[in-house]
Amino acid sequence: MRTDHQVVVGDARSLALPDESVELVVTSPPYPMIEMWDETFTDLDPTIGEALADGDGDRAYEAMHEILGAVWAEVERVLVSGGIAAINVGDATRTVDGDFSLYPNHATVLRALEAVGLTPLPDVLWRKPANSAAKFMGSGTSPPNAYVTLEHEYILLARKGGLRRPDRERRARSAYFWEERDRWFSDVWEIRGERHALDAGPRERTGAFPFAIPHRLINMYSVQGETVLDPFWGTGTTTLAAMASGRSSVGVEVDPGLVGGFDPVAIGIETLARETSQARLAAHRSFVADRDEPPGYEAAHYDTRVITKQERGLRLPTVETVTETDTGWQVEHGWLAD
Ligand SMILES: C[S@@+](CC[C@H](N)C(=O)[O-])C[C@H]1O[C@@H](n2cnc3c(N)ncnc32)[C@H](O)[C@@H]1O
Repeated sequence: MRTDHQVVVGDARSLALPDESVELVVTSPPYPMIEMWDETFTDLDPTIGEALADGDGDRAYEAMHEILGAVWAEVERVLVSGGIAAINVGDATRTVDGDFSLYPNHATVLRALEAVGLTPLPDVLWRKPANSAAKFMGSGTSPPNAYVTLEHEYILLARKGGLRRPDRERRARSAYFWEERDRWFSDVWEIRGERHALDAGPRERTGAFPFAIPHRLINMYSVQGETVLDPFWGTGTTTLAAMASGRSSVGVEVDPGLVGGFDPVAIGIETLARETSQARLAAHRSFVADRDEPPGYEAAHYDTRVITKQERGLRLPTVETVTETDTGWQVEHGWLAD
């Protein structure tokens, strides 16, 4: 199996992609009213900087969401019918001109997705415990003026049109384990930022999400060989998760400095893909070992039993070779051996 991965420097408000050309969008935009993104938003629309300087938080917030709204319209255009948009976003708290307030990004993005014609689906609350220094905002231990600490973000989910039915054989290979389904399709995910080789470099500066987030979403909402778009590409976590999952990908990123430094081979994509697939199989085997009765079906490609018929044809991808092309990378995949 071969997949293609493209990264483009550009503004996602205008995507150089044909209509109905991607099956899934996985992304995390800059969060409106989080200070680290003020400059990015102001570069895209200078009136935002003016509104902030005037102490007009509401005007800045609206203009920031106007930029994101133009991207959501493009997302709707390039998704195939039945394609899914999975958008990680957190709310913001901020004091502007002396007034502390919550800026409810998740609610505004959800409304914007509806406005461009996507259908909202039940979302995931991603609980990401804050470090203790950020735990408490307020005045000692007496009421009533302290604020609740935000320790969660959202994964908003929306679909274009109705259900879709991908190719049967690819769908069978892309099945997930029954116990993964239970965990992945629950509405609260407790995922901490992991610390490994991926976390070197600019990841902190760009608010990168943990690899597990796009990896789960890609395996939940697409089949092998399909294309995943990330219009706010950052450090390329979505591309790495697509490579590790046997999906093609397209990334768009406005900051050329981030795109230029990306090297999936140096990051260790072969190892990451193999270890991710190995960990899935090992976790499944210990799930089976812990059951009183062995599950009812035999997997076709691995020496293990599985709970449902659909899991029998499941195959876990690996990355065998990565070749640089004019526009990105071509990946040759194999399958995890037993
Ligand atoms: C929250 S970060 C994404 C982080 C990414 N998920 C990762 O794991 O590295 C948002 C990214 O969107 C980029 N960005 C902001 N506005 C953009 C636009 N209009 N078009 C394309 N990229 C944009 C920013 O430069 C930033 O890298």
